[in-house]
Amino acid sequence: MRISLVSWFIFNLHIATFFSMAALSVSGQRQRDQKQLLLGFKNSLNFSLSEKLVKWNQGTDCCSWDGITCDTSGRVIGLDLSYQFLSGEFNNSNSLFRLQHLQTLNLADNTDLGGQLPESIGNVGQLTRIVLWNCKFTGPIPKTLEKLTQLIYLDFSSNSFSGPIPITLEKLTQLIHLDFSHNNFFGPIPKTLEKLTQLIHLDFSYNSFSGPLPSFTSLRNLKELILYGNQLNGSILSTNWSSFPNLVSLDLRRNSFSGTVPRTLFQSESLKVMDLAENQFSGGFGEVKGAFSSQLEVIDLSHNELRGQFPMFVFEIKGLRSLSLSWNKFSGVIPLSAFQKLKNLSSLDLSYNNLSVDSSFTNLPLPHFPNVYRLNLASCNLTKFPEFLKNLSFLQVLDLSNNRIHGHIPSWIWTPHLYHLNLSLNFLVEHERASNMSPYMGVLDLHGNQFQGKIPSEIGDFLNSCYYISLAGNNFHGSIPESLCNNSHLAVLDLSNNSLSGSIPQCLVTKLGGFLGVLNMKQNNLSGIISDTFPEKCILQTLDLNQNRLGGKVPKSLANCRMLEVLDLGNNQIDDTFPCHLNNTSELRVLVLRSNNFRGDVNCAANITWPMLVIIDLASNAFSGKLPQGLLMTWNSMKPNKVEPNSENLHYETPMFTGIYYQDSVTVTMKGLELELVKILTIFTSIDFSSNKFEGHIPEAIGDFKALYLLNLSNNALTGPVPSFLGNMPKLEALDLSNNHLAGQIPLQLADLNFLSFLNLSNNELTGRIPLGTQIQSFSEASFGNNAGLCGRPLEVQCDSPPTSKDGPSNSGTGNHVNWNFVSVEIGFVSGIEAVILPLMFCKREEAVATRRGIVAGCWLGKKAGISYVLGK
Ligand SMILES: *[C@@H]1O[C@H](CO)[C@@H](O)[C@H](O)[C@H]1NC(C)=O
Ligand SMILES: *[C@@H]1O[C@H](CO)[C@@H](O)[C@H](O)[C@H]1NC(C)=O
Ligand SMILES: *[C@@H]1O[C@H](CO)[C@@H](O)[C@H](O)[C@H]1NC(C)=O
Ligand SMILES: *[C@@H]1O[C@H](CO)[C@@H](O)[C@H](O)[C@H]1NC(C)=O
Ligand SMILES: *[C@@H]1O[C@H](CO)[C@@H](O)[C@H](O)[C@H]1NC(C)=O
Ligand SMILES: *[C@@H]1O[C@H](CO)[C@@H](O)[C@H](O)[C@H]1NC(C)=O
Ligand SMILES: *[C@@H]1O[C@H](CO)[C@@H](O)[C@H](O)[C@H]1NC(C)=O
Ligand SMILES: *[C@@H]1O[C@H](CO)[C@@H](O)[C@H](O)[C@H]1NC(C)=O
Ligand SMILES: *[C@@H]1O[C@H](CO)[C@@H](O)[C@H](O)[C@H]1NC(C)=O
Ligand SMILES: *[C@@H]1O[C@H](CO)[C@@H](O)[C@H](O)[C@H]1NC(C)=O
Repeated sequence: MRISLVSWFIFNLHIATFFSMAALSVSGQRQRDQKQLLLGFKNSLNFSLSEKLVKWNQGTDCCSWDGITCDTSGRVIGLDLSYQFLSGEFNNSNSLFRLQHLQTLNLADNTDLGGQLPESIGNVGQLTRIVLWNCKFTGPIPKTLEKLTQLIYLDFSSNSFSGPIPITLEKLTQLIHLDFSHNNFFGPIPKTLEKLTQLIHLDFSYNSFSGPLPSFTSLRNLKELILYGNQLNGSILSTNWSSFPNLVSLDLRRNSFSGTVPRTLFQSESLKVMDLAENQFSGGFGEVKGAFSSQLEVIDLSHNELRGQFPMFVFEIKGLRSLSLSWNKFSGVIPLSAFQKLKNLSSLDLSYNNLSVDSSFTNLPLPHFPNVYRLNLASCNLTKFPEFLKNLSFLQVLDLSNNRIHGHIPSWIWTPHLYHLNLSLNFLVEHERASNMSPYMGVLDLHGNQFQGKIPSEIGDFLNSCYYISLAGNNFHGSIPESLCNNSHLAVLDLSNNSLSGSIPQCLVTKLGGFLGVLNMKQNNLSGIISDTFPEKCILQTLDLNQNRLGGKVPKSLANCRMLEVLDLGNNQIDDTFPCHLNNTSELRVLVLRSNNFRGDVNCAANITWPMLVIIDLASNAFSGKLPQGLLMTWNSMKPNKVEPNSENLHYETPMFTGIYYQDSVTVTMKGLELELVKILTIFTSIDFSSNKFEGHIPEAIGDFKALYLLNLSNNALTGPVPSFLGNMPKLEALDLSNNHLAGQIPLQLADLNFLSFLNLSNNELTGRIPLGTQIQSFSEASFGNNAGLCGRPLEVQCDSPPTSKDGPSNSGTGNHVNWNFVSVEIGFVSGIEAVILPLMFCKREEAVATRRGIVAGCWLGKKAGISYVLGK
């Protein structure tokens, strides 16, 4: 018995051993398979910089490899190779997608890894988690993704995926986290996403989704809905916002949503962050009940069309930390004391509404906002500095621009942490001497005040951490303080429109050139020369010295500034030839040399290419020779024809802090009026070579400038015909060829210039019939006067032969009425003195409005268009 017992035991042992041996050899086989698949995957990529992958090798158990997770039975269930500098692309046969048991796949932050995501990913049916953010994947989402029904977590953010979202995504009903942000997806957000009822986090921001917001009402678990930066539109009222009991964060910023803002958002008991800024929400709020229980901490409704009485109920939302209602049309008087209830308030922006902020606290103690670090009350009808500012010891950003504050800047404004102070566009005359300025000051904007006298030495001595200083549009006298050169951070220096005299300190050019991006000294009385000491590593983008008394030459070392975009030396006494040495400034967009003593040939020996050039003004110099056909041929930005108008405008973004822009401006003389383009739009193109000694024919290269708006070649010695290609420039608004020696007939094609609103061909040697066309007869006689032998309307002189127009006689009968196609619009509440002008093509006729200046009818484009010209004079 005993023996048999023992043998039974041994027998059992044998069986056990047998089974475990079998298991071992099965898992050994799997081990080898998995290892091969993983090594195949490894070898499909460039892994030379990956710490993890380089150590994967045949000799060790793949479950021990860094980045691999196995389950207890040795199956590879996790792969984490995030941030491994991997590069390469996947294809359908990549062995990665044969790892049957893989549950989590993390390849995030391998910025050179990408290509199309292969269909074979659909074979990895156990996947619950795919994390691919910040890689380089492109193309559509593979259809096979729908097979991965176990997926809980999907992060494809920051790639270049494109195409519409497949509606079959609805099959991934286990999804909790879905992040497709920062890709190129487009099309509607499928309604079927309603089926993803487990979703907690949905982020589709920074794509090009369009159409309406699906109602999403069944997503009761949703905590975060982030749709920032798409083209979604329509009302959001069709969503029942009460049906998200867990919604904490709603971000619909920068879309085209319209209609009213649902009141229920303010009544939600879960919502903490509501960002609806930069949309077209309209209407008012009226009374909102139940705001008291609101948990809202952040409300941003800025840049919308909201109007009506200021929503006083926001003062009942006690937990509010950040409130921005700027750039709307709210009206009313707000006692700042109302904010006293908001003990946790740290950021408040009420700028640019139709509000009067009453900052007097009569009979009340000053409110106490211990946490406020940002206070923006621009254009709030303030007449003095709010006293309670004294108590904001943590203030970092203060914007009181565009108010009616008179008098002096109090010394207490320089609170210890201040770094951004904007007091521009007020009536300030001086500042109290401050002993203690914030050592952190970064931005100081005092433009458009009434400061007089010398530039205070503090600007140089204490504010030497400032990277943005604007003192433009005051009445500062005296010389530019050399102490500014002590400021080694300076990126933007705008001293334009003052009465500064003396020379530009050489040290500014020498020492700051390496960091300075914008140097604007336009409209002063500066004399002397521009020092030829631009450093080797010059990063200057804007040099504007227009309207001074500067002499000398264009510095040779300016050629070091290869990023130069705006060079405006107009209206000085510079005595030089054409700056042929700027042959490496391929970013140049604006070149103004108007009214100086420039002379000589414009045809440079060195090859210059200025493909970005949009504005060139060489008028009123003594340039001679032929117009530079070769140079003209390089101006590609004047050439586009069918290209969509690009609404980009020219500005300088300071390198250190994004979001601080310097807006370039330039004055263009058009149709006898000086227009200050406060924003230089890269589609506005203009060539002014007038009042020089240019000779020869009008070069053919001009015929390619299909995007040209203004061409002024008047007052030269040009000969030859008025070329027929001028009739082939669809955008042309103003054409001035007067006072030359042009001969022959006016080409029939000129009658095709539909946008032309100014034409001057007078004082030439033209002959023959003025062609017939709807536009051309609407110009006055003066447009054609003093030629050798022109006849036909609008001239009194009759022609002998019958007309040969293809259009037949015009019946416009508008006489000499000139229609401006450029439109001007006052910018809402910005400053009340500026107007936006834009080519009419951007403007729907029904939106046309007349301006107070009576210049022209215009159109209201809102700031959505992002493009605006501002009429200065
Ligand atoms: C897929 O990629 C691997 C290596 O990355 C390559 O060897 C194979 O030829 C490719 N297959 C196809 C069908 O392109
Ligand atoms: C692999 O990547 C490294 C680092 O990015 C690069 O230097 C190398 O040329 C790449 N090799 C191949 C074969 O692409
Ligand atoms: C939304 O945009 C589409 C074009 O993307 C347009 O056809 C539609 O009319 C817009 N809807 C609303 C309500 O503005
Ligand atoms: C909105 O949702 C709430 C909560 O689910 C519900 O009580 C209410 O009836 C819904 N309202 C409408 C108009 O469907
Ligand atoms: C203010 O903030 C503090 C700290 O974050 C928090 O404990 C407190 O509840 C907040 N107050 C209100 C009214 O929400
Ligand atoms: C601005 O507010 C005043 C009253 O405060 C009102 O009379 C005026 O109509 C408002 N203007 C606009 C454009 O809303
Ligand atoms: C600005 O304040 C003045 C009184 O100081 C008032 O007459 C005027 O209506 C206010 N403007 C607006 C837009 O509220
Ligand atoms: C700042 O606020 C505190 C608390 O309300 C108050 O005691 C103090 O007097 C205020 N300081 C100034 C300068 O108004
Ligand atoms: C640019 O001009 C300089 C001097 O004016 C000349 O030495 C250089 O060769 C030119 N470069 C090119 C690419 O033409
Ligand atoms: C200028 O460009 C033309 C044509 O592109 C070329 O033939 C010529 O050699 C270039 N001249 C110089 C100085 O680079």
